[in-house]
Amino acid sequence: MQSDSAETAQAGTLGHASRGSEAAAAPGVLVILGASGDLTKRLLMPALYNLACDGLLPAEFAVIGMARRPLDTTAFREQQRQDIQRFHTRRDFDADRWAWLESRLHYTSGEFGDPEAYARLRDTVLAVGGDSGAAGNTLLYLAISPEFFQTVNGLLDEAGFTQLPGSRKIIVEKPFGKDLDSAVALNRSLLTHWREDEIYRIDHYLGKETVQNLLAFRMANGMFAPLWNAAHIDHIQISATETVGVETRGEYYDKTGVVRDMLQNHLMQMLAYVCMELPTSLEPSAVRDEKSRLLRAVRLFDPASAARDCVRGQYGAGTKADGSAALGYRQEPNVDPESNNATYAALKLHLDNDRWAGMPVYLRSGKALWKRGTEIVVQFKPQPGDGGEPNLLIFHIQPFQGVEIRMQAKRPGPAFELQRAGMRFDYAETFEATRGTGYEVLLYSALNSDPTLFSRTDFVEDSWRIVQPVLDLWKDTRAADFPNYMAGTWGPLAAHALLARDGRRWHECITRDVLLRSEFFANAPAVLLNNLTLACQPRAVEAGATVVERGEQSSDLYVVCRGELEAIGGSGERLGVVKAGECFGEMALLDNRPRNATVRAVSPCDLLVLAAADFRRIVQDFPQAEAEFRRIAAQRR
Ligand code: BG6
Repeated sequence: MQSDSAETAQAGTLGHASRGSEAAAAPGVLVILGASGDLTKRLLMPALYNLACDGLLPAEFAVIGMARRPLDTTAFREQQRQDIQRFHTRRDFDADRWAWLESRLHYTSGEFGDPEAYARLRDTVLAVGGDSGAAGNTLLYLAISPEFFQTVNGLLDEAGFTQLPGSRKIIVEKPFGKDLDSAVALNRSLLTHWREDEIYRIDHYLGKETVQNLLAFRMANGMFAPLWNAAHIDHIQISATETVGVETRGEYYDKTGVVRDMLQNHLMQMLAYVCMELPTSLEPSAVRDEKSRLLRAVRLFDPASAARDCVRGQYGAGTKADGSAALGYRQEPNVDPESNNATYAALKLHLDNDRWAGMPVYLRSGKALWKRGTEIVVQFKPQPGDGGEPNLLIFHIQPFQGVEIRMQAKRPGPAFELQRAGMRFDYAETFEATRGTGYEVLLYSALNSDPTLFSRTDFVEDSWRIVQPVLDLWKDTRAADFPNYMAGTWGPLAAHALLARDGRRWHECITRDVLLRSEFFANAPAVLLNNLTLACQPRAVEAGATVVERGEQSSDLYVVCRGELEAIGGSGERLGVVKAGECFGEMALLDNRPRNATVRAVSPCDLLVLAAADFRRIVQDFPQAEAEFRRIAAQRR
């Protein structure tokens, strides 16, 4: 295991050293191939505009757009001027800063397969570079479909781009290959034209402040260093859940699936930052070496372990968070009506190195789920005094951005009672930074020839190597149970079983808005809500499952997030139904008496369970809230 002193390696700025002083980036010409596409207007131009507003672009800077569309520079500028109004991310639009950037935009049209177009582009790059003083640093951004990568790189090479004076970079977007073999082939092909240090592979998760902060957190907060190993950490969960389905992206997604779309890239990047050995410096190669070393420590699945430790899911018709109907995956446009493609995956990984031996890492990601949220939960080992509530360290990547420690605190009062509490660092309360697109730091780093935040060949290939056995298994076997989760729910039950088998559970970071959907909590004070979000535990049940049994003494309270349940009386008669947004169990809880009805799930349900003891402790401080609960309960009765 690495010594603790190495854990506290010199903190600094991830990315180029000059970021520390927030100096303008190095001069350069950014060529966007495929400039008429979505990426340019939604992300690249707003990011450049943000950099311009923050004074982080040099005066010697130019952008050259190239696409098939027969525009001239004037028309291109006009188009960008319209688009930026829609897609900029700042509160107010600064017309002067935009004018500054717009005057640096140029355009040349051409077909991607036409050698002449590249000769013209080269002449434009040389001319614009000379006029603007930005020559000698050329960035070629391939904002094009990956099927053109090979052709375009060959033609760029033929046109002399690989020999341009000064520094040259080729920037490529994901997907980087569709499996291990194609990724290796693509790398080989790129490397015949460019040197490794000229290839900048983008993973937009590395542009997120909260992802970069994972490394900063570990490097700069030495108190966690001695605990960062399997002796103190029970397991780690990395979750990236989305509420959106595939919508208009069916054609791409049905060939891709969640493992290629999210796990092979974004989740592997987060895994690397959380678990790698800390680099001895912030030199790009030092950081990238450690990331790759970590991926190589991931135990590779064989067919048996993949079948045992990987769960796949596909959504069926359900309900969106706003209550409207959601299509099932197979009904989405451009999706095969019999598709076997996974829109959800949960994997259990093992890291075979000294630091993490024996400690699992669980990854999960999915579309059309109940909540949008990317979170990393580090669960520490239980301690004798923690009352069965081990400490959690939670990195909230998005949409809430922050770091939280879940701990236990003594409740105010004469008795020595513990209650779950949270210590939070909230980005919004701490920093004034304007919310960007995430591409700012990537473009800035590329201009500065800093590859730290880009994926190197070995990282890409190692991450494909990890997921390839899963892809193979899932390609070769049809999932008989698809669709196996309803849109808008917490994913397939098998994903919960994966952890339950190990005596663990997924930590759902419950937000207040989930509780506010229920009439019981709609008027609850903020402090009460906060305590309730910490106390609620998620539970998923299958259709037909009995949740509470008539006559039973238990008195936990249930909040229904999704699905429908029925209450059944003593003679088997149906007393009523309980739907999403409602609660049940409040009578047994408030009056401390046995259950007067059996409650059974009619459809698969996602519930939040509030243990009776937690509820009583929490409401003690809020007598009015308890009175309100009683009033609502009496009304329902
Ligand atoms: C992209 C995937 O790479 O990441 C999308 O192709 C996914 O399917 C997106 O929605 C998620 O990114 P973010 O930044 O919203 O978490």
